Amino acid sequence: MKKIVAILLSLVLVMAMTSAFAAGKVGVAMPTQSLQRWNQDGANMKAQLEAAGYEVDLQYANNDVAAQVSQIENMLLGGAEVLVVASIDGGALDTVLAMAKDAGVPVIAYDRLLTGTANVDYYTTFDNYGVGVIQGQYIVEKFDLANTDKVYNIEFTAGSPDDNNAGLFFAGAFDTLKPYIDAGKLVCVSGQTEFEVVATPAWKSETAQARMDNILTGFYADGTKLDICLCSNDSTALGVTNSLVNFGYTAEDIPVITGQDCDVNNVKNMIAGLQAMSVFKDTRTLAAQTVQMVTDILEGKTPELNATYANGVIDVPSFNCTPVFADLANYEALLLESGYYTADQLAN
Ligand code: BGC
Repeated sequence: MKKIVAILLSLVLVMAMTSAFAAGKVGVAMPTQSLQRWNQDGANMKAQLEAAGYEVDLQYANNDVAAQVSQIENMLLGGAEVLVVASIDGGALDTVLAMAKDAGVPVIAYDRLLTGTANVDYYTTFDNYGVGVIQGQYIVEKFDLANTDKVYNIEFTAGSPDDNNAGLFFAGAFDTLKPYIDAGKLVCVSGQTEFEVVATPAWKSETAQARMDNILTGFYADGTKLDICLCSNDSTALGVTNSLVNFGYTAEDIPVITGQDCDVNNVKNMIAGLQAMSVFKDTRTLAAQTVQMVTDILEGKTPELNATYANGVIDVPSFNCTPVFADLANYEALLLESGYYTADQLAN
């Protein structure tokens, strides 16, 4: 009996010591599990925070803003000392973020800017405008637009209007391509070039697919060839690809389609010749940068910063990671040799 009591006591002691030495509790709010990248972001954040000695409260909100608000409230009630938030609607969280501010809990916006609020301390992301520039530049080089006399047809598909990133991705790509549109080398046959018109609420593949169906039947049914589909990310690229394939395009003549995230299905499409490229934002890098930021904040140091983003109320001190592109020529080095995916994951 004495032995059991002694064991129990030492267990309690170990537990007490572990929590005394735990570096702190971090709440990680993610938007949805329906898109591959956020699952990877969540898993990487949890693993890296735990490896650094933190306790982690990781929650996914199923793209439901009200659910995300209550998850963040619960993180605060549960004693989170720092919040890391990848928002669904970046402009919808001011009230709950004010609770964090009142509780003295620093807030890091993760990948997506928190807008319309003074209650955000830092932002870690990839250079979002730069993502669009990479997509635009890929097209410029692929079609040698600077030197060609040919004319190519292009259609645009952008992301969700409630996501601050979506406008930046589109602006980066459009600004890069605009000189060639102005020169008549690129023609948008549908005439749909405004962000508000080409946007895809909630980044849904089905919505992007339905819009492309309409464009194809409305403007390309007479056999006009579509050469380029500028899609801001992989979920929209997937919808656009489905639409093009249903319309009769094959790997031999499908337009050059851009994307972002290197989601498994899109990399498979790349290998099958159905998608030309995808911007690669290594979620391990973003997680590592964010974990470092959490550590610096909790140790009272100023985190490493290299950018600011205006969120409509304040300029948020930020860190931009650098995106690169993946295509058929480099995906093995970038995605397989780096250990991001296994060959099995990309096998059809
Ligand atoms: C992210 C993209 C992602 C998109 C849809 C954006 O905020 O930066 O990587 O494709 O959301 O989830």
